[in-house]
Amino acid sequence: MFSGAAASTAKVDSAFFFIVASSGLLLVAVMAVMIVFLIRYNKRKHPRPEAVRESTALEIVWTVIPLLLVMLMFYFGWVDFEYIRNAPKDAMPVDVTARQWSWLFRYPNGKEDGVLRVPLGKPVKLSMTSLDVLHCLFIPAFRIKEDCVPGMKTHMWFNADEPGTYELFCSEYCGLGHSHMRSQVIVMPPADFDRWYGTAEETGAAAQGLKALKTLGCLGCHTLDGTRGVGPSFKGLVGSRQAVVTAGQERTIAVDASYVRQYILDPNQDVVKGYSPIMPKIKMDDQTLESIVAYLESLK
Ligand code: CUA
Repeated sequence: MFSGAAASTAKVDSAFFFIVASSGLLLVAVMAVMIVFLIRYNKRKHPRPEAVRESTALEIVWTVIPLLLVMLMFYFGWVDFEYIRNAPKDAMPVDVTARQWSWLFRYPNGKEDGVLRVPLGKPVKLSMTSLDVLHCLFIPAFRIKEDCVPGMKTHMWFNADEPGTYELFCSEYCGLGHSHMRSQVIVMPPADFDRWYGTAEETGAAAQGLKALKTLGCLGCHTLDGTRGVGPSFKGLVGSRQAVVTAGQERTIAVDASYVRQYILDPNQDVVKGYSPIMPKIKMDDQTLESIVAYLESLK
């Protein structure tokens, strides 16, 4: 995940490699001088210590070389910082909303998704905010990272130059579900991106329900294919029987549409056996709630 060259045009790598290389050279140089001195000036050869006089030339050398090194580090850092902070005017704007514990990406045409899809070779500017606590959006492959702060907008941009799927995650501890606050960036050839971007969203209650599950971040914890997540999978949930713990007492309940409805509105009254009571109360209107229930009923 952290390996390989940057998959974007960000130039942070040059500053990083310069600092690592100069630190490495200094380490080797200091160690070499130390070993030479150990051998040359040991006690057997020099039983009596001698006074060492100052050397102006030496002092100039050891002042000028480090000065040049740090000025070069500053230069590389400054150039890369300028590049990272200033998005090109024609960058595609994408709004990012972070919440405990999911990401939502909203495009200029109103399309929303929990996965960030972007066209290859086009600059994308992310405008970010948070609905609750501090989060931090980190895309290691693109070498960018920025906090998402409640009540304000922060921004960053990138220009992906390698098609593929990359990790995206939260790098600011934000509560119990922090480690699950991860998603993906999918870099698509422009034609594929345009096709996806231009596709109208499906209507119908169940399709709307699936969309709501994505945009509300439910799929960060619940899978649709039966695999275990932070919470139980949604697959086949409606119509199943579940062992739950209610106020410390274990009992078995039959999950039907009305139970699901009630559970979403007031999670953690019953906790499904084997899971933690971490589901947040998520505000939603009745229509959204009904669409989610319709989708879950359809997911056999
Ligand atoms: Cu959001 Cu950690």
